Amino acid sequence: MLQPIILVTGGTGYIGSHTVVELQQAGFETVIVDNLSNSTAAVVDGITRITGVRPHFEQADCCDRNAMAAIFDKYSGITAVIHFAASKAVGESVEKPLLYYRNNLLSLLNVVEEMIAHGVFHIVFSSSCTVYGQPAVLPVTEDAPVLPAMSPYGNTKQICEEILRDTAVSFALQGVLLRYFNPIGAHPSAEIGELPVGVPQNLVPFITQTAAGVRQELSVFGNDYHTPDGSCIRDYINVVDLARAHVQAVNYLADGKNKTAVETFNIGTGKGLSVLELIDAFQKATGIKLPYKIVGRRAGDIEQVWANPEKAHTVLGWHAQESIEDTLRAAWKWELVVRHKA
Ligand code: NAD
Ligand code: WQD
Repeated sequence: MLQPIILVTGGTGYIGSHTVVELQQAGFETVIVDNLSNSTAAVVDGITRITGVRPHFEQADCCDRNAMAAIFDKYSGITAVIHFAASKAVGESVEKPLLYYRNNLLSLLNVVEEMIAHGVFHIVFSSSCTVYGQPAVLPVTEDAPVLPAMSPYGNTKQICEEILRDTAVSFALQGVLLRYFNPIGAHPSAEIGELPVGVPQNLVPFITQTAAGVRQELSVFGNDYHTPDGSCIRDYINVVDLARAHVQAVNYLADGKNKTAVETFNIGTGKGLSVLELIDAFQKATGIKLPYKIVGRRAGDIEQVWANPEKAHTVLGWHAQESIEDTLRAAWKWELVVRHKA
């Protein structure tokens, strides 16, 4: 029997690359499609060094329908698609909404149309806890209301979820929507990790760059929230744990275990950590004293959100395994590799 091939769009990106590693280690053949708009082809070498297997790599834009058709024609053994390819910077999406709507919606439309045309019916989609906004009840479950998006980026995630649900009504499409909480860390080998462009907007890359001396000090955005220490609370999920959830999702669809055509899962640890607690955990994990100051709130920040991951536990059999200390040590190890190469 032919080995199933998983098409991974955005597979040289941060989460995609870790997922390709986990897929290959679980015995899947993988094809990466990436236009390298936010990653480099060198990531394929990192994946190869970790797994000993070179994934197929196609440099192509998912917004190019003909290119996508040619890739599905070339790899006739594709059984499922994991669709990561998207633009993801919240602030940039406010400045360039049309770019975000075009890239994130058109890439999904092309992928799904070519899947159907080629008889591929399983898709795993990268969604986000951003769809919940500030939930009224914590920890948040999948049936919590989806609130009006606070950015064009967030809106693209909501619309993409709806496109998949609507498509599954009329076609044989079966989907898993994974709502990620805050992915952090890097592969423990430090062969792959996150490569933020310019000044990092996300907390952990800013912390590791500050610890490395690239940034002078971290600004903590607000200590006057209604949380125990006044700083915002998030659910920080290790990127390798998150990658494993995609393997479970692909297997779940292949086993036909889904009760409805499109199922949604929260992928988080179930534990909320404040910004100040995260800084403390980083200092304890690495022994590095981190310079930081408290500044005003960042516009648009949610006060507190963390996942109820019970559904992913019981239905997918997925659990977050890595400790926050190991996760932050891996992020730091990766930062040192990046600095060494810079
Ligand atoms: P990333 O930018 O590192 O990876 C995305 C990859 O997609 C990049 O390699 C980029 O070059 C590629 N890409 C973008 N548009 C493309 C296109 N039209 N055609 C082909 N390739 C294209 O981002 P990431 O953090 O790995 O995020 C992956 C997915 O997960 C995204 O859909 C993102 O919205 C979602 N997500 C990310 C987070 C997070 O905090 N990182 C949280 C929730 C959801
Ligand atoms: C985490 C906490 C900040 C930087 C964003 C997107 C979301 C999702 C993940 C894709 C917040 C605080 C941060 C800093 C700080 N992406 N912070 N100083 O905002 O939860 O989510 O990335 O779907 O859509 O909005 O993550 O890492 O930016 O911030 O104090 O320099 O750290 O205020 O409380 P966020 P983040």
